[in-house]
Amino acid sequence: MRKLITSALPYIHGISHLGNIVGSMLPADVYARFCRLRGNEVLFVCGSDSHGTMYEVTAAKMKITPKELAYKNHEKMKEILKKFELNFDYYGITDSDANREMSFHIFNKLDENGYLKEEEVENVYCEKCSRFLPDRWVEGKCPSCGGLTRGDQCDDCGKLIDVKDIVEPYCVLCKSKIIFKKTKHLFLDLPKFDKELSDFVDNKSKKWSKLARTETIGFLKNGLKPRAVTRDATWGFKVPKEGYENKILYVWFDAPIGYLAFTKEWCEKNNQKFEDWWQNEGTELTQFMAKDNTIFHSIIFPSMLIGCKENWKLVDRLMSCGWLKAKGIKFSKSRGNGLTTEEALEKYPADYWRFVLISLYPEQDDSVFSMEAFNETINNEFADIIGNFVHRVLSFCYSNFGEIPEVEKETEAELVEKECSEVRQTITKNFEDCRFHEALKNIVHYAKLSNAYFNNSEPWKKDEEEKKRISYIAGNLVKNLAVMLYPITPKFSEQIFDYLNIKPEDVKWDDANNFNFSGKLKKPEPLIKKIE
Ligand code: 2FM
Ligand code: ZN
Repeated sequence: MRKLITSALPYIHGISHLGNIVGSMLPADVYARFCRLRGNEVLFVCGSDSHGTMYEVTAAKMKITPKELAYKNHEKMKEILKKFELNFDYYGITDSDANREMSFHIFNKLDENGYLKEEEVENVYCEKCSRFLPDRWVEGKCPSCGGLTRGDQCDDCGKLIDVKDIVEPYCVLCKSKIIFKKTKHLFLDLPKFDKELSDFVDNKSKKWSKLARTETIGFLKNGLKPRAVTRDATWGFKVPKEGYENKILYVWFDAPIGYLAFTKEWCEKNNQKFEDWWQNEGTELTQFMAKDNTIFHSIIFPSMLIGCKENWKLVDRLMSCGWLKAKGIKFSKSRGNGLTTEEALEKYPADYWRFVLISLYPEQDDSVFSMEAFNETINNEFADIIGNFVHRVLSFCYSNFGEIPEVEKETEAELVEKECSEVRQTITKNFEDCRFHEALKNIVHYAKLSNAYFNNSEPWKKDEEEKKRISYIAGNLVKNLAVMLYPITPKFSEQIFDYLNIKPEDVKWDDANNFNFSGKLKKPEPLIKKIE
């Protein structure tokens, strides 16, 4: 089956925090790697979300253009993501020509089909700065939780917020009181999609994460309202319609269309058919994001696609997750809270972070990050249980035989196999269902069982035949662990494959379940260092 996998597109006007990676890019990458191992035809796309007013603010401060800022940071982001072992098939940028073309196409279709309507609205205007202010430039108190908020969405409670409802609002640029001024905009007529959206959500949401489902159903219950798709700003795609020459498309209009555009760019480079991926029911679309992006992916983007009447593929599995928090608040660029991805990678290798972040993956709820918890997980699980087992077994086999020896199978071996096969089935199911945090827990359990087998068998006390037999089984347990960890900690697994003389590109998911491996070994070194 074709699997199309996307992760929410990161903004790149500021620094990337670990929180941005844990919620979408890392789980999407783990899932893509798992699907590739299973032999699925996989396309994993992502890219930089390069429009939006935050680029204007940041660029102005740096005395460069928003475009310069976006492209400069895009290059930097690509390096960081690579270091994090995020293995996208394609990583694009939403400012691309392909995305402009695709965005205009969808805009025009929606317009032709009567799903865009003009409305005169009163928007926020700062007289001192003499410009309309994007929602994010208005600050004040959140009407819902009372915390300091910006328009659009509250960082504290996650509610979508109408600027009109902000208490004591002011302009973030000059801090003066804002006024409301009339302006014309185009709105996506969401109420027209009510029936189709409800059917779509009823049909598909059984396969969504719990957070995605509850949030979407709640949003539908509240009743749909038209949403503006144009803005009074300068950085972005100019609205392709007469009378709107001085306005741009809202960043949330062209950002999700990026998924289509990136696929197209990839298809052109790889001689593939775009329609196979986006207009074909034989493709399964799985999208990863944090909970504050849910509605855009479950309601707004699907409406845009439905409204084209072109049979676009709608999301099959929507995986939104909670936030990674540090000291009780969400990791956030604007608050300078939490670790940047670069800082994280300077401290420890990507696999350490991937291991810990997957063990913290906030599937159901927010989860809390701390350096103490990081050290504990690395030392107790990755180093003591997994790394140590791998090293002991490989060193034992290497020093006794220089290889994982080949032996006849015996009853006892089958017992270990049986127990491990059962755990392995649960692991597979959890990967399939994107419960990666559970899958990792099961893998740690598998390593514990393997450890117990090796310890209780005490091969060092046995005669040559017995030693061989135990080494053979333990060696296969090591190989199986490496296969199952491959989606989560790729470099660690590749190192083990190298000791075992296995080519990583030959590894299949089913290899995690067989006990028929034997062969020459390279001299193993300890792979996971404990943190002091
Ligand atoms: O919230 C964010 O970080 C957005 N840049 C996510 C965009 S996802 C998409 F649909 F493009
Ligand atoms: Zn102002």
